[in-house]
Amino acid sequence: MDIEDVRDDIKKVLLTKEQIQRKIRETARKVDEDYGGNNLVLIGVLKGAVNVMTALMGYMHTTCPIGFMSLSSYGEGFESTGRIRVRSDLNVDVEGKDVLIVEDIIDSGNTLHWLEGYLLENKKAKTVNVFPLLSKPSRRKWDIFIKYPGYEIEDEFVIGFGLDYKECYRNLDSIAVLKPSVYQQERM
Ligand code: IMP
Ligand code: MG
Repeated sequence: MDIEDVRDDIKKVLLTKEQIQRKIRETARKVDEDYGGNNLVLIGVLKGAVNVMTALMGYMHTTCPIGFMSLSSYGEGFESTGRIRVRSDLNVDVEGKDVLIVEDIIDSGNTLHWLEGYLLENKKAKTVNVFPLLSKPSRRKWDIFIKYPGYEIEDEFVIGFGLDYKECYRNLDSIAVLKPSVYQQERM
């Protein structure tokens, strides 16, 4: 769905479909150049990374295995709890591989900090890097090196292109800031 379908629920559009696709296309080009289809595995964190993963692999000119993990740190609310729960473990072998984690957003960095350690130590990946479509630097609790930076955004709750509020809006083709009235009730 597009922005017209959610006009009443959003405060403003943050990134258009075109801006999102351009960034992902540029990143695909760099990934092709840097890895050349050799030894690379793309890992997506469910469910938010599905849209970014699909677009990224579609724009790439090299091929490689992909895998997914389902993690949760948020529970029901807006703040990361810091505790990571594995809902579903990795479904591809990354031992000795160069892993690129594909993410919707890095917020506190809790998820990514944990996942990098898990892939290197438990799954014996050779290298681990990350492409987050979005990043909220002001919220960061960990010093994380972002090899393929997406867009840096302010500390606002955003939805669309994989990002959800209570499991909705993931299928929006752009990224928008939700109207406070949509979630005000729950925050009190
Ligand atoms: P972390 O705090 O970096 O661990 O972020 C973990 C996860 O929180 C992200 O992968 C998203 O699924 C979710 N998240 C963080 N900020 C937002 C937001 O603004 N909208 C929707 N989901 C978010
Ligand atoms: Mg996520």
